[in-house]
Amino acid sequence: MQKDWHLDSWRDFAAAQQPEYPDPKEVEAVLAELRQQPPLVFAGECRKLKAKLARVAAGEAFLLQGGDCAEQFSQNHAKIIREKLRILLQMAVVLTYGSLKPVVKVGRIAGQYAKPRSSPTERIGGVEMASYKGDSVNSFEPTPQERMPDPNRLLRAYHQSASTLNLLRAFTHGGYADLNMVNAWNLQFVKNSPLGLDYEDLATEIHRTLKFIEACGIDSRRFPQLNQVDLYTSHEGLLLGYESALTRCDSLTGDWYNVGAHMVWIGDRTRQLDGAHVEYFRGINNPIGLKVGPTTDGPTLVELIKVLNPENEAGRLVLITRFGAAKIEELLPPLIRVVKDNGFQVVWCCDPMHGNTYKADTGHKTRHFSDILQELTLFFAIHRQEGTVPGGVHFELTGANVTECLGGAADLKEEHLAESYETACDPRLNAAQSLEMAFKIAHMLRQDES
Ligand code: PEP
Ligand code: CO
Repeated sequence: MQKDWHLDSWRDFAAAQQPEYPDPKEVEAVLAELRQQPPLVFAGECRKLKAKLARVAAGEAFLLQGGDCAEQFSQNHAKIIREKLRILLQMAVVLTYGSLKPVVKVGRIAGQYAKPRSSPTERIGGVEMASYKGDSVNSFEPTPQERMPDPNRLLRAYHQSASTLNLLRAFTHGGYADLNMVNAWNLQFVKNSPLGLDYEDLATEIHRTLKFIEACGIDSRRFPQLNQVDLYTSHEGLLLGYESALTRCDSLTGDWYNVGAHMVWIGDRTRQLDGAHVEYFRGINNPIGLKVGPTTDGPTLVELIKVLNPENEAGRLVLITRFGAAKIEELLPPLIRVVKDNGFQVVWCCDPMHGNTYKADTGHKTRHFSDILQELTLFFAIHRQEGTVPGGVHFELTGANVTECLGGAADLKEEHLAESYETACDPRLNAAQSLEMAFKIAHMLRQDES
């Protein structure tokens, strides 16, 4: 165990972005109940993910992380969950085929219920109220009452995470993720788009390859690699009461694990070296992410890495960079060099969403497909130049046909945003935009091969 760390040591440090509950006793009662709940994931699964991420760090595999900015309690239907899984599976197939490397699949799912906010309050219709901080804190409904933080929402977040994960486990191990289904994953509205056709071509190729393998006398149904998928869960570990209530000591190793998700990450607003989040995260043994935004300087990053990964274990730490297309060329190379010079083992992952957000004339928060693609293109080019590994990508996306991000093959325009703008927080790529992005990345990965 890390020196001087214990389950509650974070309480001695300043914790940014925590809700101010009206009744602290009620919070303690909820946390006590959470401590009694069974784990959602096993420590062994977290170790397996860490081993896979170690391969990503070495350039032998590729990380795909994606899902909602904020999951919502009301969106917990089987169809919606299946659509999110389906787009991740489709993207993973495209990336695997393009890179000829295993793709490690991590959802922002089954627990992504808490949001940091730049401003604690906002004005809606002339009324000042607390900002929405995710369904595990308060309601999206814009009234001061509904925006009051309610600790009972933490219990609901736990139970909904459990039911989402239960369904995901059934889908990924019960036949839905079988590579023989690769054709069936295509959605009608994607099928009709130009890249739907590219996807169909690829699915036909894969189908033929499987038939070929079978013709050689190998029964693909007997290989779990071909008919099952490991999908790992992740969320921002924002609410430290919740996260520590779901942190348990593994009976096999005596190490502490967050058992609410396979991977948790520290957000860009909560990565203070002397803050409670870093204190909590340094003591858990899961693979962890660290968002690295424009205000991260080299010396601070070095200190953060030393604290969060003192053993320099490969697969432990994913640096999720989110600079924006306009800033990545200036800000990423010096950080890559400082990490390289120190010999730190990290996974470099690009979040091309959070540095490219702006407000459209319609008032909607949005992102343009071309800015997202531009940041990704530069991410790959910079790593190629520096001789380091561009290990993965991190997206806010959904499997539905929403209209939240602009551009893409369908050339979504600002006037379309209101048609199906459903996110409770940041704008997500829709299924067609996500698939298109996967094809573009696959192309870049193939170039990296050569
Ligand atoms: C997020 O991933 O939704 C988020 C809030 O990101 P960041 O911490 O990078 O701003
Ligand atoms: Co977001």
